[in-house]
Amino acid sequence: MPETLGACVVELDLSQPLSVTQTDMLLLALGRYGVLEFPKQSLTTAQLKAFSQNFGELYISPGGRAQAPGFPEVMILSNMVENGQPLGLKDAGQSWHTDMSYAPVIALANILYGTKIPQREGKPLGATQFRNMHAVYEDLSEDIKSTLADKTITHDFNKFWDMMRARPGSTRPPLSEKERNARPPARHPAFLTHPLTGKKVLYANPGYAVEINGLPKAQSDEILEELFARQLEEKYLYTHAWNKDSVLMWDNIGTTHNAVADYGPDEHRYMKRCQVMAGHLFGPGGTQEPLLFNPRT
Ligand SMILES: [Fe+2]
Repeated sequence: MPETLGACVVELDLSQPLSVTQTDMLLLALGRYGVLEFPKQSLTTAQLKAFSQNFGELYISPGGRAQAPGFPEVMILSNMVENGQPLGLKDAGQSWHTDMSYAPVIALANILYGTKIPQREGKPLGATQFRNMHAVYEDLSEDIKSTLADKTITHDFNKFWDMMRARPGSTRPPLSEKERNARPPARHPAFLTHPLTGKKVLYANPGYAVEINGLPKAQSDEILEELFARQLEEKYLYTHAWNKDSVLMWDNIGTTHNAVADYGPDEHRYMKRCQVMAGHLFGPGGTQEPLLFNPRT
């Protein structure tokens, strides 16, 4: 595995249809590098959706939060306000997490298209940071590896939501009962076999992981804290500084990510996001039984 993450895919126009070979090569690159940047794109919302659909089914957020008009599969992430109305979700992902780990069908990839990137003194703000969870797994002690080898971890959507609500200036309301019921907690193996690489990753992110099942509560809490602290080590970090008009695609199984909130309300950021689900890469037993990806050509 790479010591860090990130690769740039140049001279690929994402507004054009991809061949099966191109799609498979990008999936292999995603497993290998974790984060792929596609610079200098010019995409309509429909083209972003079409590109994203090459890799799997797209997620539709329940409740219609921050959807692009006419495209429920495309979410707007933005701090911009027009006529008193927010254009998108303004504080999305501002803490370490893995999208959709709280769901029975997890997410394979995030695909973001950034058309407004805040800048200060010529430097881009609002970076997205990543941690390499293949490498974190490899470095775990044999003791932890054997303790957690057959364990599952419960992931709960509400943990991250409440963490974000507790922040100063948050306008997030508490989740209604209906919203909570729409996203009940889910269990996944602590060590998930990554369908793109066939290797194990630590699948335990600080945003959603709440309990290691089958251990006493105190031991579960202690090990989770240690796993969260481990992944914060500098050697696993990749910080992606955004370039305007780039598309960024990242592996949502082999990385955790964090949106850096270092820009103000007048420093505008605008992104469109599609979330590719991983259901087709796992068997009917869910994440217990990964189906390894095989390139089709
Ligand atoms: Fe996220």
